[in-house]
Amino acid sequence: MKILIINGPNLNLLGTRQPEIYGSKTFDSYFSELQFGFQEVELAKYQSNVEGELINKLQEAQEQEYDGIILNPGAYTHTSLAIADAVSSIKTAVVEVHISNVMDREQIRHTSLISKNAVGTISGFGLNGYKLAIQSFLNTREAN
Ligand code: DQA
Repeated sequence: MKILIINGPNLNLLGTRQPEIYGSKTFDSYFSELQFGFQEVELAKYQSNVEGELINKLQEAQEQEYDGIILNPGAYTHTSLAIADAVSSIKTAVVEVHISNVMDREQIRHTSLISKNAVGTISGFGLNGYKLAIQSFLNTREAN
């Protein structure tokens, strides 16, 4: 199974960005833990602060035949119709992940333009949300 993790704006700063909300681990070190924990899964990761680059990556992922995409669109979650369109335009299944519990934050973060076209959304479990998303892809495959 091949899974791509796509992280949006400011998520390159994990480790130092508002650690009280996002924790103090860098994504690189968390990613190594994920690879160690899911050796049967071929994991890849991508991060960009640029909306169009995130869209290009979503489209490419379909061509590269990933079995699933884990997408944390960062603040674009709440604003980007273009990323929402990309998610609904590709056949690859997308699970939306948020590190923080967006429903327990400012009102503007309560709306996701992405969720409608995602298989599901995981929010509020810290970095562990990415692990839960991988597990959800594995569970779905077992069930089929
Ligand atoms: C986030 C939540 C968003 O509201 C925020 O803009 C982010 C990160 C999260 O992972 O909790 O950048 O997607």
